[in-house]
Order: sequence, then structure tokens, then C-alpha cells
Amino acid sequence: MEIWLDTAKIEEIQEAISWGVITGVTTNPSLMMRAGTTDLKTNTRRIAELVGGPVSAEVISDDAQGMIAEAKDIVTWSSHVVIKIPITVEGLKAIKVVSEWPARVNATLVFSANQALLAAHAGATYVSPFVGRLDDAGHDGMEVVREIAAIFEMHDITTKIIAASMRHPRHVIEAALAGAHVATVPYKVLQSMIYHPLTDVGIQRFKADWEQALSSKR
Ligand code: G3P
Repeated sequence: MEIWLDTAKIEEIQEAISWGVITGVTTNPSLMMRAGTTDLKTNTRRIAELVGGPVSAEVISDDAQGMIAEAKDIVTWSSHVVIKIPITVEGLKAIKVVSEWPARVNATLVFSANQALLAAHAGATYVSPFVGRLDDAGHDGMEVVREIAAIFEMHDITTKIIAASMRHPRHVIEAALAGAHVATVPYKVLQSMIYHPLTDVGIQRFKADWEQALSSKR
């Protein structure tokens, strides 16, 4: 399972890339707002240059014609760009058209396996079930990922599953076990994936023992 970063903040992306572990980035209007930018084109291009892999940029129109018009512009920003389209009836119409260009579509705001199935049939390259938001609403978000993975596997559907709305490191492990192809994680979740207190304790102990070995030789 690939790890992507769910952020529009350039400094977070640069730092995560230096770790050698992320292969894509997802953004949305809220993340752009948190990154303090309204220049979606410049920011998306910069992210695409840095990551050199898929970068999702989201349309904001409600109607298919508006989404398609936005997508027509967004695809020119970078060859790495993936058009993020919400899974509504209008979104499905837009996914069908945009996927035929060719262009890659990430069907977003997916909260059920039925929505994922419809997005896949309309031509989406990716579907993004929002695990954390389902959990917040009292559901089992990861169960939706498991259902989508089982259905896609059973019916030879090649659309990839991006586990999104990841809130903590355990979500990432569960997404991998559930069959997601990608987990897109906020920077703070990526940081918590690397941390373990016993690693820090182990390093301190090795250092102390080595110091003791050296001092006994003096
Ligand atoms: O990629 C979608 C993700 O950004 C949604 O996360 O935390 O706003 O539910 P969240």
C-alpha cells in the first residue's frame, strides 16, 4: 500500500519527501485554505514538481458542466494531476466525461461501497472512502474500505482505493489490512507512524552501553 500525504502545505510535503516514503499527494479546498493559498494552480504545480507522482486537485462546481470546465483547466496544470470529483449524480456525469479524455479521476467524499461501485463504473481511476468522517458519525469507516476492496477484487474492478480521512496511525495499518491501495495521511499522522517510545529508549540504551564500553577501555 502506498502512502500519500493529505495536505497542501509545501513545507510538510518537502519534509515528507525527504523521508523517501510518500509517492503522491491529495488536496482539497479546505486543505488549500489551511495552507493559506487561493492560487490553486501555482500551489498544485509546485506540489506536482516536488512529489513527481499523483496529485489530486478538487473541482468545486455543483453541476457536471461546471466540473468538466474546471477539470479541463486543471488537467493542463501538470501531467501528475488527478481530478478530484465528489460522488454525486452530477459528479458521476463529470467522471464519465473526464475519464474518457484521458485523465485520471479520484472520486471523493465516498461514504459507501455503492458510491464506490458507481464511481468505478463511471471510469474513476481512484475512489476515496472517508474513514475518519464515517467513524465520527458513529459508523465503522474501515468496514466500508473492506467492502469496497472485496467487491473490486471479486468483480475484477481495477479502480484503486485511497483510504482518506485518516485520523491516527492505527487507521493506516487497518487500511493496509483492509486492502486499500493507498492511504492518504495528514502530516501529523505520518509523524506518529514513525514514532515509538521503545525506539527512543533503545537508542538511549545503546548509546549508554557504548559509552560504558569506551570508558572501561580508557
Ligand atoms: O482526503 C480527504 C481528507 O482530507 C478528509 O479528511 O480529516 O477532513 O475528514 P478530514
